[in-house]
Amino acid sequence: MEKITLKIDTSRKTARISPEIYGHFSEHLGSCIYDGIYVGESSEIPNFHGVRRDVIDAFKAIHMPVLRWPGGCFADEYHWRDGIGDKSARPSTINTNWGGVTETNAFGTHDFFDLCEEIGCEPYLAGNLGSGSIKELMDWIEYITFDGKSSLADERRKNGREKPWKLKYLGIGNENWGGGGTMKPEYYANEYRRYQCFCKDLGENRLYKIACGPNAADYNWTENVVKNLDGYMAKGISLHYYTLPTGTWEHKGDAVDFSDEEYYSTISRALFIEELIERHTDIIRRYHKDMALIVDEWGCWYDVEKGTNPGFLYQQNTMRDAIVAAINLNIFNEHADSVKMANLAQAVNVLQALILTKDEKMVLTPTYHVFDMFKAHQGGELVFSEFDVNPECEASAEITGGEGMPKVPLLSKSVSVKDGRMLVTLSNCSLSEDAEVSLDIAGFDSTADAGAGSLKASARILSSESIRDHNTFAAPEAVVIRETPVTADKNTITIIVPAHSVVSLSVE
Ligand code: AHR
Repeated sequence: MEKITLKIDTSRKTARISPEIYGHFSEHLGSCIYDGIYVGESSEIPNFHGVRRDVIDAFKAIHMPVLRWPGGCFADEYHWRDGIGDKSARPSTINTNWGGVTETNAFGTHDFFDLCEEIGCEPYLAGNLGSGSIKELMDWIEYITFDGKSSLADERRKNGREKPWKLKYLGIGNENWGGGGTMKPEYYANEYRRYQCFCKDLGENRLYKIACGPNAADYNWTENVVKNLDGYMAKGISLHYYTLPTGTWEHKGDAVDFSDEEYYSTISRALFIEELIERHTDIIRRYHKDMALIVDEWGCWYDVEKGTNPGFLYQQNTMRDAIVAAINLNIFNEHADSVKMANLAQAVNVLQALILTKDEKMVLTPTYHVFDMFKAHQGGELVFSEFDVNPECEASAEITGGEGMPKVPLLSKSVSVKDGRMLVTLSNCSLSEDAEVSLDIAGFDSTADAGAGSLKASARILSSESIRDHNTFAAPEAVVIRETPVTADKNTITIIVPAHSVVSLSVE
């Protein structure tokens, strides 16, 4: 067993961890919205204005801070007027991106904003720059946020919402380098400049505008967008990065039936996001000192589950996904000075989902449990932490996700402090090696009454015999969070972090 010391100095605070780093994404894609989130008011499944009550409760339990909608690719073909007013009179449209299925538009603006209010999270709208118009986006903002007298505000009232909703996060376009218009960065920057100019703060509402950023390592896109924007025009720029186990779109690999080599290659490719964050941030900083990086799509993308619609992107979720989630969240925390929001793709039934549903049944995935274990980082202060050693996973010494991808270290970590409590989150990436981690803590004033200046600690673990273990509708609790022992004395805390596990340690 590797013995590793994690040095922590809570007097060295680096940045506030924006709660929105723990954000999510819901697109009109497969069964994310329909059946996953929205079942309709007349459903026998208990619901709140048509939204599944079990899903709402699960979102609340992890303190979901922000939810992005309506896409993704869907956003750049979405016309918001299709989704307001009498549901029986709404037009049917084609979801050209995702299976060519009929979109009923039953879930629209009111449903989304009411859902966010019920969850207690910020709505994040992806505006249509690809096939929409400036006028359409202006009208949408007015419909949602205007409190005074205008035809659009009155129309909202007529449709059942007297007071405006608050809208903070507004993305202007999605993947405009691809499905959102196949634009060149300079062209997009000019379009963005025009659009943002007409996206106005009405009354007390304040928009946080987000420009469409790069796909993965497209540094040219970032450079040519940010240099063509003036600082006040965008608070943030997005980054999309998906972890593909094999690195190819043609054969991404199976969600459950994967080899050890594929596991390490997945972890290596997940870790690559750190280089992406640092290099894109360096470019942004050359032009703008405050512009944030908004990682508004991230997660694992596998081949769809056999027998399911290829356009619906339905995949299972194993302990491998839990390790990937922990790595990503630790990296986002550690870059909290530039990453101000991140949105896992996607919330329900699509890609690396938090939740899977089938009729009235619901399953929380291992990824969901990681968000639960990490939630106390939200709003905390990131503090200095460093391993004395962090060897590469033995089995992965020769395996990476391909050229330029990092070797896989044994451990991933981040540490924050909030309200006199410290949260340490760790994950062990090895398939075979356990680790004994000792925390060497400086600067922390315990507020707990643990006696003689001692620290009080408790820990939770997500682990399973096999990295391929997952929760199903027949066995929904195969992978769940458990308590795990931890020893604590004056300034040292020791815990075992077994192979392929995720641990969260709370110290007071
Ligand atoms: O999350 C699925 C799709 O991935 C989104 O619609 C798009 O933005 C990205 O390519």
